[in-house]
Amino acid sequence: MNKKRQIIVTNALPYANSALHLGHILEYTQTDIWVRFQRMKKNDCFYMSADDAHGTPIMLTASQKGISPEEHIHDVKKSHEADFRDFLISVDNYYSTHSSENKELCESIFEVLKKNDHIEEREISQAFDSKENIFLADRYVKGTCPVCSAENQYGDNCEICGATYKPLDLKNPISVLSGETPIEKESKHYFFKLSNFSDFLKKWLSSGVVEEGIENKLSEWLEEGLNDWDISRDAPYFGFNIPGESDKFFYVWLDAPIGYIATFQNFCAKANLDFKEFWKSDSPTELYHFIGKDIINFHALFWPAMLKSANMRLPTKICVHGFVTIDGSKMSKSRGTFILARDYLNNLNPEYLRYYYASKLSNSAEDIDLNLEDFVQKVNSDLVGKVVNLASRCSKFITKGNSGYLHSKLDDEVLWNKFSAASVAIENYYENRSFSKAMREILSLTDLANEYISKKEPWRLNKDPKNKDKVISICSMGMNLFRLIIIYLKPVTPVLAERSELLLNEKLHWESAQSPSINHKINEFEPLLHRIQKEDIKSMLDSANGGSK
Ligand code: 2FM
Ligand code: ZN
Repeated sequence: MNKKRQIIVTNALPYANSALHLGHILEYTQTDIWVRFQRMKKNDCFYMSADDAHGTPIMLTASQKGISPEEHIHDVKKSHEADFRDFLISVDNYYSTHSSENKELCESIFEVLKKNDHIEEREISQAFDSKENIFLADRYVKGTCPVCSAENQYGDNCEICGATYKPLDLKNPISVLSGETPIEKESKHYFFKLSNFSDFLKKWLSSGVVEEGIENKLSEWLEEGLNDWDISRDAPYFGFNIPGESDKFFYVWLDAPIGYIATFQNFCAKANLDFKEFWKSDSPTELYHFIGKDIINFHALFWPAMLKSANMRLPTKICVHGFVTIDGSKMSKSRGTFILARDYLNNLNPEYLRYYYASKLSNSAEDIDLNLEDFVQKVNSDLVGKVVNLASRCSKFITKGNSGYLHSKLDDEVLWNKFSAASVAIENYYENRSFSKAMREILSLTDLANEYISKKEPWRLNKDPKNKDKVISICSMGMNLFRLIIIYLKPVTPVLAERSELLLNEKLHWESAQSPSINHKINEFEPLLHRIQKEDIKSMLDSANGGSK
């Protein structure tokens, strides 16, 4: 018996500023499949997530709405929780970074970093909007590119020529907030001395914590040299005050990853666990972060350096995925392909998308294309036409012909053994997040199962009453193959698995694949899944286009 693992799993925390879209759902689906697989393997998984509640955009949206930031993040959190629940995301705790636990942790970690001489105070000058009385982040300044003179460019880089610069280098800069010309203003900032951690990070990143492609990218950044990291923001800002400062706050990206710990602390208080044990530098618990490729620097550079300085445990793995494209292009509001989680849920079964994403996901950070035609075709053909069809073809002969009892003997033991032995390969694919390979393997087994039934033609044999035993034996074999397929699919399609468990009259675990179900009474077949209709897709796209909003 392998030793039971304890694993803390996190997702990127979505900003509490707007509704979730199908890109968020990719990451949460990937994580949830992995977590459900670990739980089936009887490992202890603590799946933590939260809303990322701080920062300027959240403060500004709340003020535009005429409500407090607290009210705004409360409403958004409710909608995020509903979307995740309806996509069958099985988090153990969904919290908020705007919590008392997080505030205390940020303060105490900051104190340790300071004590270790990893914090430095420096005066810096920044763009300032004197009308709105606020310092302007790069994205809040627009103007003409100083290099190629392209108009309407943001304050960090030019989308036309690729030049990077400071906001006040722009020609005719204006504040996006007031339309006024920003001035340059000085202010004291706190920096985390990331450059002190270059050697540590080089070594740590080569220990297999990220996939090779990501490691290469990170090595390039490390070679270029790391800049110290500005972890403070001036008022007005929605966040946590820096201890000893009345008008300075921790930058949202400082408190967001600490939010992973705070969420776990909040969970431990409810579950009666000693959370500090899990974050000690020598904790045997594993820590897996699932994130998108746009936030690698925060998770693979800043975060481990902070943890190291605070003498806390480091991540075991950082699992990076790519972006979602729809029909080959970036999701776009103007093209009507910016599909919100709710647009999807109002029209389609969440398990269709979970399966489709699983069939495309690998452990690399390649983008995942949701091709809507392929989606309909694949779900209808694989899940409805092949998997569910297998049970509907076989179960009736057993419920009608044998009072629901499966035969005492397998008709083709060799075939059953082949299906059972496949659990090893499928298990490895799940563990390594090679979900597309797992789905391919499961589908090829499903094809074999259907071929077996088509070849044996129980419906033809059944015409002659003397074949009754043979028919029951063949169909019991078919149901046993279906059972194994459902065990393997369970992390991806938990509701289909639950309905199949009702049919099979049995709870399915990963080790259930080691023995067949014989002499066991099953229940009447009820439709397990429906085909996707073209109109469902149309109606989802209509609502993405504003139809239902
Ligand atoms: O990029 C984002 O959407 C961030 N809100 C992710 C934060 S992840 C973590 F560090 F909290
Ligand atoms: Zn330019």
